[in-house]
Amino acid sequence: MVLKMENVSLRRGNRWILNNINWQIEKGDHWALLGLNGSGKTLILNLLNAYTFPTKGEINVLGMQFGKTYLAERLRQQIGFVSSAIQQKIHSGDNAFEVVLSGAFASIGLYEKPSEEMREKAISLLEELGCNEYANRNYETLSQGERQRVLIARALMGEPSLLILDEPTNGLDFIAREKLLESIEKLAKKPEAPTMIFVTHHVEEILPVFDKTLLLKEGEVFASGDTRSMINTHQLTHFFELPVEVNWKQERPFLAKVEEAEIDR
Ligand SMILES: Nc1ncnc2c1ncn2[C@@H]1O[C@H](COP(=O)(O)OP(=O)(O)O)[C@@H](O)[C@H]1O
Ligand SMILES: [Mg+2]
Repeated sequence: MVLKMENVSLRRGNRWILNNINWQIEKGDHWALLGLNGSGKTLILNLLNAYTFPTKGEINVLGMQFGKTYLAERLRQQIGFVSSAIQQKIHSGDNAFEVVLSGAFASIGLYEKPSEEMREKAISLLEELGCNEYANRNYETLSQGERQRVLIARALMGEPSLLILDEPTNGLDFIAREKLLESIEKLAKKPEAPTMIFVTHHVEEILPVFDKTLLLKEGEVFASGDTRSMINTHQLTHFFELPVEVNWKQERPFLAKVEEAEIDR
């Protein structure tokens, strides 16, 4: 078991911003987490990284029960996390190689001397993610797509059991997005791949390797299960409260808004 959330709720002020979340991830399952902006996706990730604590409910991540055996640092060393919050914290003067190396210490910036083994690992990850050409360039001079690749390589340095990608394609043009998705797919298909959670608000980005999907709506689980039973015309029409049609092409779903009568509730 990689993750178990049981009746997890989160309150801020007098508002429940997450409500009764139940989610179970088995080892080797790759999940898509789909929801509109503001639906609570990042809140859930912050809970499972122990940056935030639930107001109610139980969370168990990688065998660590929050509040019991749980140690935030030990937990985070086993989770690779790519998010815009991390992206913003990267020291702008560090080059891509240093950013990747820092992942070995789960730190932002390099404070300890990396071993030769770590350096070799960083080089091979940079290669795997296609970052060789700009390994020595300052992070701040990289394009958005290049930055995301570097952050994924960084997240893999610690050989995480769980890799979380929070909207990794944000701000990418079509070509850069498709290329990044291709790399993510390749990564997920490797037998030694960590369990992955891919967070997005774009249906089209759900790759075939993400065979489970959780639909999150206004802080609640709308539905979760096999991607094909989540991502279809009927389910998404209800989810978006808007008549939409899902068309599959090359095992990927494409969403279109359609003109139609009332949604049948
Ligand atoms: N500390 C907080 N206090 C009150 N509301 C918050 C707080 N943090 C997040 N929210 C609200 O929770 C909702 C979900 O946010 P978020 O998880 O970032 O959404 P997503 O990642 O799906 O776009 C948003 O409406 C946001 O305004
Ligand atoms: Mg978010």
